Amino acid sequence: MKDILLEVISLTKRYPASGGGFRAQTVKAVESVNFQLQRGETLGLIGESGCGKSTLGRVLGQLAPATSGQIRFDGRDISKSSRRELRELRQQIQIIFQDPYGSLNPRMTIRDIVVEPLRNFGIARGVEAENIAVRMLNLCGLGRSVLDRYPREFSGGQRQRIGIARALVLKPKFVVADEPVSALDVSIQAQVINLLKDLQRELGMTYLFIGHDMAVVKHVSDRVAVMYLGRVVEIGTMQQVYGNPRHPYTKVLLSSVPIPDPEQERQRTSITLKGALPSPLSPPSGCPFHTRCPWAQLPLCSTVEPASIDVGEGHLSSCHFAVEGVTTTQHKPPFPVTK
Ligand SMILES: Nc1ncnc2c1ncn2[C@@H]1O[C@H](COP(=O)(O)OP(=O)(O)O)[C@@H](O)[C@H]1O
Ligand code: SF4
Ligand SMILES: [Mg+2]
Repeated sequence: MKDILLEVISLTKRYPASGGGFRAQTVKAVESVNFQLQRGETLGLIGESGCGKSTLGRVLGQLAPATSGQIRFDGRDISKSSRRELRELRQQIQIIFQDPYGSLNPRMTIRDIVVEPLRNFGIARGVEAENIAVRMLNLCGLGRSVLDRYPREFSGGQRQRIGIARALVLKPKFVVADEPVSALDVSIQAQVINLLKDLQRELGMTYLFIGHDMAVVKHVSDRVAVMYLGRVVEIGTMQQVYGNPRHPYTKVLLSSVPIPDPEQERQRTSITLKGALPSPLSPPSGCPFHTRCPWAQLPLCSTVEPASIDVGEGHLSSCHFAVEGVTTTQHKPPFPVTK
């Protein structure tokens, strides 16, 4: 039987648009998202900038309330938690942020940064708290010698290790990692990713790993969800989504990833998207991707919103042509396919 830690049902998050005036508009940042996360697994979340990944992460991380929908965590609905429940949840759910400098208080020593959560939650204080902090820092590859120093004295990679130690010192069950390596040098990225994977094994955590680099997400994820304009348009195992993408948006994202094999790389066709991401204030009608989809069939795609279709073994795609696939001859891309 599946051991589900987190279940998200029709989760929606809208922000009031600034300067909305009389006819207040809303930013549809996350729209009716559904998925489940098994205990101990990593779900990767990809999609271009502005498509709602961080908002979804913040809502799941209890940093922002959902507008509607349900979040079931460890068997109970946490969408409308009381203050006391929220406090307890903040111990079990943690977020690791992209910018390891901005998320660490520059006026606090590393000791205070890592000990603070233990104190705040009444788990330990004094020498005991310090010992727990040092054990966590050790797991993150840092020694006791860092305790009296300040964040500015460390490199980006080391700061991210400190941020990870702070987030994980409470032994959370669920961790949202929001582009945790995007701000780091490529040479450091692999080290931090491997650290996150080792810690997951060690502490048995479940991850939502947000990224825009398809190769990084592929490396860490068991399953992958692809987001476009606030919706999850495709979700499946890493093999299903990367090996047999069934949504045109996923195909486009994958077409821009270089392939290590030179022969395959020569044959790779990069697909260019028309125009910019539409505004989440007024997403397109029908399929939200229809204004940029190289395979869109009008008027079907501009008028009818595609349902989420299971194309096999839990691999879901929200495209009218998910079952037959858009590579068949009837659905040749009519425009820009560039090399
Ligand atoms: N606090 C906020 N208030 C209003 N709009 C927001 C807020 N946070 C994010 N947005 C908007 O929501 C959309 C999704 O943003 P975000 O979740 O940051 O996307 P991503 O992480 O995929 O880049 C964007 O259009 C963004 O401008
Ligand atoms: S439903 Fe139509 S527009 Fe949307 S992704 Fe599929 S083919 Fe493209
Ligand atoms: Mg983001």
